[in-house]
Formats: sequence, structure tokens, C-alpha cells
Amino acid sequence: MMKILGISGSIRSGSYNTAILLAAKDLLSDDVEMDIHDLKDLPLYDDDLAEEEPPAPVKAFRHAISAADALLIACPEYNYSFTGVLKNALDWAATFTLSNLLEQKTTAIMGASRTVFGTARAQLHLRQVLHASNANIIPKPEVYIRRAQDLISEDGIVEDQRTLEKIEWLLNALIMEMSANQ
Ligand code: FNR
Repeated sequence: MMKILGISGSIRSGSYNTAILLAAKDLLSDDVEMDIHDLKDLPLYDDDLAEEEPPAPVKAFRHAISAADALLIACPEYNYSFTGVLKNALDWAATFTLSNLLEQKTTAIMGASRTVFGTARAQLHLRQVLHASNANIIPKPEVYIRRAQDLISEDGIVEDQRTLEKIEWLLNALIMEMSANQ
């Protein structure tokens, strides 16, 4: 059984990025499982906390990363970059004090936003930051979900077939890479 950890860079209840992760989970075959980790409880990164006993949500998040064969990050765009929520989580995952769990971790990225840019700028920044921790980033396909409000229903269902196809292409690339590493 291959295990994917889904991470949404948005913690709001109606998040389009959480919606595309849920859509990805639905597309998976029976031999791949996916948990979606809620970043809401992670404290702001503080090296003092890291040096002491890390708080329970940090331990749970780091454990979930270690237990996963790959990460699937749904990356929102705030002010032309990815969210502080996501950066904070990546800092907890790759810290000089607690060790770098992202080293060679197979990682796929997609993102949904309300504008026509579809998180392209945010994903570029995210790829750059993931290089710092030497993650094994899936380069293609790039999945930019533009004007998500036209493609995803109010209750978070991805209704657009083309969007589901794009997510599926990315999942196929991710699963191929995971299989190669097993
Ligand atoms: C945004 N949004 C946004 N969208 C975009 O495409 N480029 C951007 O630079 C920004 N900037 C931005 C800043 C802030 C502070 C907010 C709150 C929003 C809009 C964004 O795409 C929209 O809020 C999405 O719904 C965010 O993703 P989730 O929460 O739906 O996953």
C-alpha cells in the first residue's frame, strides 16, 4: 500500500485547495491511500519550541510526513506567493533543530485560485523553497486551477471534468515516481 500525505496551504473551511485534495483522494485506486493533514493546529515556528519538547501538533505533523511515501501539496496564492500557513508547516518539516524530513521526499504540487493566474506565481516560490530541503519535486505536469470559483461548487465538489483530468495526470506522475522508489 502506497501512502500519500495531502497538505492544503489553506485552513479555511470552504478552501478550494482542500477541495482539490479531496477530489484527488477520490481519484485514487485501492492500492494508494491518502490522509489530509489539517495545518490549523500547528503553532508558529519557534526554535525554542523545537529545542524543548515539540508541541503535540508538531509531532503529529512530522510523524505524518515520515509515514508517507509522498506528499501532495495544494498550494493557494496569497499576494503573489504561497501562504504563510504552508511556509510555517514546511519550516516545521525541515528544521536545523529537529532534522529535515523533506530530504528526497517525493512531492507533487497543484493549486487553485480565484484569479486567472491559478497559483502559478505561488507554485514557483514553493518549488524554490522545496529545493532548500532537497525534496524530490515532481516537475510536470503543472496544475494551475484558474478561477476556481467557476469550477468548484459551494460545498467543495470539483465539478469540472477537465480539472479532474489535470489532477489525475499529476497523481499518475506522483504514483509512477513513488513506485520507482519502492
Ligand atoms: C488572495 N487571493 C489571491 N489570488 C491569486 O490568484 N493571487 C493572489 O496574489 C492572491 N492574493 C490573495 C491574498 C489574500 C490575503 C487572500 C485572502 C486571497 C485570492 C485567493 O485565490 C482566494 O482567496 C482562494 O480562495 C484562496 O485559496 P483557498 O482558501 O480557497 O484554498
